[in-house]
Amino acid sequence: MQPFSHRIAEWQRASGRHTLPWQNTHDPYRIWLSEIMLQQTQVATVIPYYTRFLASFPTVADLAAADEEQVMALWAGLGYYTRARNLHACARQVVSDWGGRFPPAAADIKTLPGIGRSTAAAIAAFAYGERSPILDGNVKRVFARHFGIEGDPTKRAVEQRMWAIAQAEVPADGPDAAEQMRRYTQGLMDLGATLCTRGDPACGACPVRATCMALREARQHELPTPRERKAVPQRQTGMLVIEKNSEILLQRRPSPGIWGGLWSLPEFADGDAALACRQLGIEAAEAVRLPEFLHTFTHFKLQIAPWHVRAGALALRDAQAPQVWLPTGEVAQAALPAPVKKLLQGLFVRGTLL
Ligand code: ADE
Repeated sequence: MQPFSHRIAEWQRASGRHTLPWQNTHDPYRIWLSEIMLQQTQVATVIPYYTRFLASFPTVADLAAADEEQVMALWAGLGYYTRARNLHACARQVVSDWGGRFPPAAADIKTLPGIGRSTAAAIAAFAYGERSPILDGNVKRVFARHFGIEGDPTKRAVEQRMWAIAQAEVPADGPDAAEQMRRYTQGLMDLGATLCTRGDPACGACPVRATCMALREARQHELPTPRERKAVPQRQTGMLVIEKNSEILLQRRPSPGIWGGLWSLPEFADGDAALACRQLGIEAAEAVRLPEFLHTFTHFKLQIAPWHVRAGALALRDAQAPQVWLPTGEVAQAALPAPVKKLLQGLFVRGTLL
């Protein structure tokens, strides 16, 4: 029997993904950007963002020199905006502390803002072929099943056991270790994403089925042990779609905070949209309630109650946040938080809500 890593690397060569835009490069900047965007976000969602981002900032120096608003605009819609702020800070640090060259090893990469142990290892493996193991959510699922590891993998003790396994399973050192390491690392990711999926693992096609503990004991659906679910709190907000002369009012969100630094719709706490408008210096000629909807963040859910307001007299007050008017025809191209964009596209692009 070949080692675990060898079977995964060979499977990657034959059946893994080979045409993703961040593959077939050893440029650490491009790899780093992809790994950050792919945290908590699906490949298909990431691809257009990745392409646009690199077109605007082809090198880490370009990103370091950009202003925050430009970076946030390119990230708008991807979610988890702390990633974008860290990315920017990270680019600046690479320029100031590393002379514009990405740090040469996982241990150094891990010192940069927003880069954890697994992400640092993935970048070093793909860029330099370094034999540093990854352990992201997908890999934890593969390990829990294959090695029969009980317990919630987000718990420290379980995670520690998995790191020990991850370290022990990296391909042996040797003349083609760098290439093997790249293949193995991508193979673990591909296996977790395509075969060893959460709900419906395709064990028949798995390259490590012969040694998989979960398969042997028919426990694929019990492993990994599910996390104890805490009830997620729910918050509520009113949102104002204020329209005047085919434009809608946007405000910049305070930073830090949800969607910090992004343009979004004005929000209000209580049920009275007309009053909220008046506080902005706007007389509402007409205010129509739109269907409420729920947006899920990591730690809470947000119940959004949108209102469509036709503005009459305007005497805009400085609402302690910068304001701009967005032509309704530009909604599709605008850089906005995903649920806000969905709402506005429903209103002004598909016309389904009014
Ligand atoms: N998720 C995280 N890194 C990835 C990669 N390199 N390819 C595909 N999905 C990923």
